[in-house]
Amino acid sequence: MPLDINAILAETSGKNFDLFEKHVNPVFVKVLRIIGFNRSWVRGEGAYLWDKNGTRYLDFLANWGVFTFGRRHPTIRGALQQVLDSDFPGWVGFDAPPLAAVLARELTKRVPGNLDTVYFCNSGTEAIEAAIKFSRAATGRPCTVHLTKSFHGLTTGALSLNGEASFRRGFEPLLPGNSAIAPGDLEGLEARLARRDVAAFVFEPIQGKGVNILSDEYLLSVQNLCRKYKTLMICDEIQSGMGRSGRFLACQWIDGLQPDIICLSKALSGGYVPLGATITRRAIYDCVYDSMDRAIVHACTFGMGNLAMAAGLAALTVLDDENLLTRANETGARFRQGIEAMVPRFEFLKGVRQRGLMIGIEFGKPDSMSLKAAWAMVNKIDENLFAQAIVIPLLDDHHILTQVAGHAVPIVKILPPLNIQDTDVDWFLGALEDVMVKLHKFPGPAWEVLMKIGGHALTAKQRENRSAIT
Ligand SMILES: Cc1ncc(COP(=O)(O)O)c(C=O)c1O
Repeated sequence: MPLDINAILAETSGKNFDLFEKHVNPVFVKVLRIIGFNRSWVRGEGAYLWDKNGTRYLDFLANWGVFTFGRRHPTIRGALQQVLDSDFPGWVGFDAPPLAAVLARELTKRVPGNLDTVYFCNSGTEAIEAAIKFSRAATGRPCTVHLTKSFHGLTTGALSLNGEASFRRGFEPLLPGNSAIAPGDLEGLEARLARRDVAAFVFEPIQGKGVNILSDEYLLSVQNLCRKYKTLMICDEIQSGMGRSGRFLACQWIDGLQPDIICLSKALSGGYVPLGATITRRAIYDCVYDSMDRAIVHACTFGMGNLAMAAGLAALTVLDDENLLTRANETGARFRQGIEAMVPRFEFLKGVRQRGLMIGIEFGKPDSMSLKAAWAMVNKIDENLFAQAIVIPLLDDHHILTQVAGHAVPIVKILPPLNIQDTDVDWFLGALEDVMVKLHKFPGPAWEVLMKIGGHALTAKQRENRSAIT
């Protein structure tokens, strides 16, 4: 019998969580059930998802920033279709794939400095792994410096650069000699670089965790220090790149900033095919691939596949043809103005961190007595809890997918596709306003939901404490 994927999807609809729980990741299913993300999706198009009841949702989670061009973009689908319909062979292995060469040329045209060479892989974390190895090979030094609250991926090397202890717990020791420095701490950075064993300083120009926008002055000072101590700068644009910030790369907001290595992934392939890229100078590349017997000393079997390369070229085409950098800036400004206009009305709402369509909405301690008590109560249960009081009703009551921006930060992040309509912005702003109105009534139904989830948080914490003891 021929394989019928649609029949499989129809048959498992609604039962997928049980099946996933049994054979893939039961703990994740538990989380999905608690926060109400256990919906049965049947369709995705542009910025929208539909569940099996036909309800339309606005997807501002966008698979953690992958769907920068929306789902099922016709240009990207069209490029993939052409590859599938073509006889042209991919992955010959001993070959120089032409689409890879063209995509590499197109990427190098768009990045700052003289970065003329690209290594392709299949994910963000792999792009970072390559960057770590390239910087070690180029400098002959073993260590890296990263920033607190950084996130660069979860394979062992990238995890060594993770600013969040809870990700590392249980997997240490990781790569030796890495140091975390707080953004802004130039003295600490200089003291560390002065030991002259640091191959690279690794940073996200806009930290995904918390949407923390690093300042121009800070990053230019870091660049001076890196040049002084001959440390390379690795710029992680995996989330902030490909137009997300309103420039092709977020580091391009800073005149004169020229990282030595740039990592891209997520939106690079427009959401269809995994793809990562590590872009650097030929001189650095030559230190890695330094003799014929080392011509593929760093490589991966599935790198440079025709589907991924075609999707990458299509994504760049969409970015240019739809004028998405300008649109990201204009739409981002509309979000900012709308959110800032609400700040004086709502005690919990503190402000917005925004560059293009990378947006963090900040919440914090209120002033009035009763709301202060509510704030203290939820934070006592779990510092991660308050942001869920925004994310959950946005989904349940307003059908909008968003995310908490990191561990123990009362910030909600949205990563809308760059080509959304003004009506989508208004949908979100109206929803946020409604959630705020309801949360400012304490006690009230909005808080009851939170306390229910808080019970689960408490048991998770108790379990953590227990395992720390045994
Ligand atoms: C800034 C940044 N770097 C690296 C990664 C890791 O990418 P991947 O999940 O594709 O390994 C992510 C993923 O969220 C990210 O946001």
